[in-house]
Amino acid sequence: MAKISDVNAIQVFDSRGVPTISCKITLDNGISASSMVPSGASTGSKEALELRDNEDSYHGKGVLKAVTKIKNKLKPLILGLNPANQLEIDQILIDFDGTEDKSKIGANSILAISLAISHAAAKDQNIDLHEHFLNLYKNITGDSIKPSIPIPMFNILNGGEHANNNIDIQEFMIIPQGAKNFSEIMKWSSEIYHNLKNILQIKGFSSSVGDEGGFAPNLESNEEAIKLIIEAIKSSGLKPGVDVNIALDCAASEFFDGKNYVLKSENKKLSSSEFINYLKVLIDKYPITSIEDAMDENDIDGWKLITEELGDKCQLVGDDLFVTNEKILIEGIQKKLANSILIKFNQVGTITETIQTIHSANIHKIKPIISHRSGETEDTTIADLAVGLGVGQIKTGAPCRSDRIAKYNRLLWIENESSNILLNE
Ligand code: PGA
Ligand code: ZN
Repeated sequence: MAKISDVNAIQVFDSRGVPTISCKITLDNGISASSMVPSGASTGSKEALELRDNEDSYHGKGVLKAVTKIKNKLKPLILGLNPANQLEIDQILIDFDGTEDKSKIGANSILAISLAISHAAAKDQNIDLHEHFLNLYKNITGDSIKPSIPIPMFNILNGGEHANNNIDIQEFMIIPQGAKNFSEIMKWSSEIYHNLKNILQIKGFSSSVGDEGGFAPNLESNEEAIKLIIEAIKSSGLKPGVDVNIALDCAASEFFDGKNYVLKSENKKLSSSEFINYLKVLIDKYPITSIEDAMDENDIDGWKLITEELGDKCQLVGDDLFVTNEKILIEGIQKKLANSILIKFNQVGTITETIQTIHSANIHKIKPIISHRSGETEDTTIADLAVGLGVGQIKTGAPCRSDRIAKYNRLLWIENESSNILLNE
């Protein structure tokens, strides 16, 4: 049985050039594995805390204190343990921190270790990481799950906090749900993406990209973004609503002023029910099958109303609303808020808690979607997590830029090498 013989960490940089943590776990049989931690920009207020240095250097965003905590405080706690015991190791880290929001040690420090542990355990057992996650789900929850290749939501047009254009809605995504396999999904998404680029250029719009690799033009309205995407789908020889659907992430907390939803691009100030109606008009007009954070994270009445009115027509995803937190999810389920949950492991801080939240979602028939953050790295763990836990859906940006495409490329390899794992139905 292999044992952890070393834990090392350094400060590296994410896709925005902002410091983040990389952690390397070494086992006594010579095997080693490393991780890198992602970071959000439009974060939910109840997310676990990301520990930053808050000093003059790196605009306050250095993580050198967190790196020191890993090496001095956390390493001694887990030396000698078997990396296959993810639950035990994560629990030691959670207990040592001792706070609800992981503010003492930082969710970024804890996650860096938690991820590297899972990679080391998979390598040690000589199995794929997704297979290890499949086994962990069974070990941690007692229930079995069927692995599958997830269907992506590709974010091909960026607004909100992820771009400096005038568009209020943060993400306009395509879901190529009619494709027969993952290779075809990539073909379609790549062709649609490049056709959208051509369309933007022909119409005189900017084709520079936002944080998640999607284009970030200035447009007259949010609806115009949808129209351009529909045009790009059609010019790829595909049928909107049949081959390819559309998903939105409003990230509405970013434009809610405490009372109204303020759409700057359209000069509109809408109450909760007016904004729900605004979205309903879009759903009726276009093949929009999923809307994330349609409401502000604290607009509970708004969430209740939209779930009542649109919940049977559309997947309503809670991101800032649930922050991957099992307790907050359960409270939301009792209040009948949303019907789907976005899963970002750095919102909660460990692999174990991420699996427990997904398990609760499964039990309550709330659809989980594995997600990247807007600040990403070349770490592809989420691709294996989505496959092994059979969640069915993944959101990891445009089919462009290596911080996004690394995850899609990993899924192409999994499809190629695991003929028994099929695209989610
Ligand atoms: P974030 O954005 O990583 O900046 O929070 C992604 C999202 O809102 O889904
Ligand atoms: Zn979101």
